[in-house]
Amino acid sequence: MSNPREADLIHMFKGIPFTTRSSPELLKSLDTIHAREDDVLLVSYPKSGTHWLAGVITKLYNTQVTLTSPIEFGDISKLEELNKVSSKRIIPTHLDYNMLPPNFKNKKCKMIYISRNPKDTAVSMYHYYRENPNLPTIDTWTAFFDLFLKGDVVCGSWFDHFLSWEEHKNDKNILFLFYEDMKKDLPKIVKEISLFLALNVSDNDIQDICKKSSFSEMKSDTEKENSDPNHTVCALTSNRKLIFRKGAVGDWKNHFTPKQNRRFEEIFNEKMKLSKM
Ligand code: A3P
Repeated sequence: MSNPREADLIHMFKGIPFTTRSSPELLKSLDTIHAREDDVLLVSYPKSGTHWLAGVITKLYNTQVTLTSPIEFGDISKLEELNKVSSKRIIPTHLDYNMLPPNFKNKKCKMIYISRNPKDTAVSMYHYYRENPNLPTIDTWTAFFDLFLKGDVVCGSWFDHFLSWEEHKNDKNILFLFYEDMKKDLPKIVKEISLFLALNVSDNDIQDICKKSSFSEMKSDTEKENSDPNHTVCALTSNRKLIFRKGAVGDWKNHFTPKQNRRFEEIFNEKMKLSKM
């Protein structure tokens, strides 16, 4: 954290780096948030496919739902803003399990966690840092690679985030999804999500939702600004257009050197020793 710009853009809360767009007052007050039994939480480490999943979920309902901005985004007025939402709330968050307000846990709200190969997540996040004025300046991929492995990036360590949620993967109210599975067979995953949310969605509707949620459709929708460019489900930016970059599996191969790959694997194997997945 030696870069002076970084000091202006990032602050630490409970040992995790947050952007200053998540105010310390809000973070301190998160535990007072009122949860509703029918809230659905959409949980991810940044750059794991959050917007994609949000696009799918909002299309599954034929009643009115509100996709809010992330719980941790904004200032203290956020608490009131969430209270004012009168329809069913789909609430995104990048918080790790331990920081999630206990009210959501006590009310057994449904939560969907989406994860992605951390190598691709790292690459996606690197480009996001480069394009996003709300994040510290990063000069090279090599520099970012080191920061990512140390967990010295917004939302902290990918490993800690994943492990904190993985511990709860068998909780009945939590559904674990992988970006790569969505790429492989989106209709299958959309069906799984609809069953988890107890929604009756026909196969035809699922096909239609998948078509409308393809990378190219979502990207061009955003470019045409059919969707509000300021409405992101990521607490790190206010420009939706930065989200749709490549949408591919395996882009890490275009960035990692063989040495970086070996180092990543070593750290991955060490950290994920505790993982059952
Ligand atoms: P890339 O940077 O690798 O392209 P998030 O929404 O969590 O910020 O994740 C952003 C990543 O999801 C970006 O990855 C983005 O391109 C990808 N993404 C967004 N919509 C997608 C879609 N419909 N299909 C596939 N990938 C998508």
